[in-house]
Amino acid sequence: MEQLKQAIRTEGSVLSANVLKVDAFLNHRIDPVLMAAIGREFAERFREAGITKILTIETSGIAPALMAALELGVAVVFARKQKSLTMRDDLYVQKVYSFTKQVENEVTVSRKFLEKGDRVLIIDDFLAHGEAAFGLAKIVEEAGGAVAGIGIVIEKSFQNGAAKLQEAGYRVESLARIASLENNQVQFVEETIH
Ligand code: G4P
Ligand code: NA
Ligand code: NA
Repeated sequence: MEQLKQAIRTEGSVLSANVLKVDAFLNHRIDPVLMAAIGREFAERFREAGITKILTIETSGIAPALMAALELGVAVVFARKQKSLTMRDDLYVQKVYSFTKQVENEVTVSRKFLEKGDRVLIIDDFLAHGEAAFGLAKIVEEAGGAVAGIGIVIEKSFQNGAAKLQEAGYRVESLARIASLENNQVQFVEETIH
């Protein structure tokens, strides 16, 4: 998605060979015009997938998920992150380890917001190792729903999340795919010269 890549080029900054900072439009300040375009792009890609619900994870997945949901005419559910909680039987709970932040969170969704037969589009801002997406997918499946696809705003293709999710049979649609952040440069996958 060219508009997103342009925002990454002009407003993103490379923090390290592994981390791209995009707090100017996605993770802190939010650009609503860009976010609306992101929502339309997800909707276009998943229009024929029979989506009944979008599932994301707080905080930064919510904005793109909401815009896509508006386009597709479905509700958004966002999973909550919390430090270990005493088990509650009205919640689906998955442990999600973040390699980027080196913390383990418990990700929870209320049982009342997912239904058997739901066809769920999972949306997130970043895809790194795929831990969050796998955790959300397990929750959908535990609820008796199907994961109709995974929509990612920025995929770091040099980490293994996308490959692992695809190997597991999930359809992954990423709007920007980053091949490398080496030497303080954002290199997109499409631009890599083979
Ligand atoms: P994974 O789920 O794919 O395995 O990713 P990981 O655990 O590494 O990601 C943990 C958090 O770090 C997530 O945010 C994710 O969006 C974010 N993240 C991962 N790589 C980058 C990156 O290169 N740049 C930025 N800006 N963020 C990255 P979170 O902790 O859930 O935060 P938030 O949703 O509250 O913003
Ligand atoms: Na994030
Ligand atoms: Na996220």
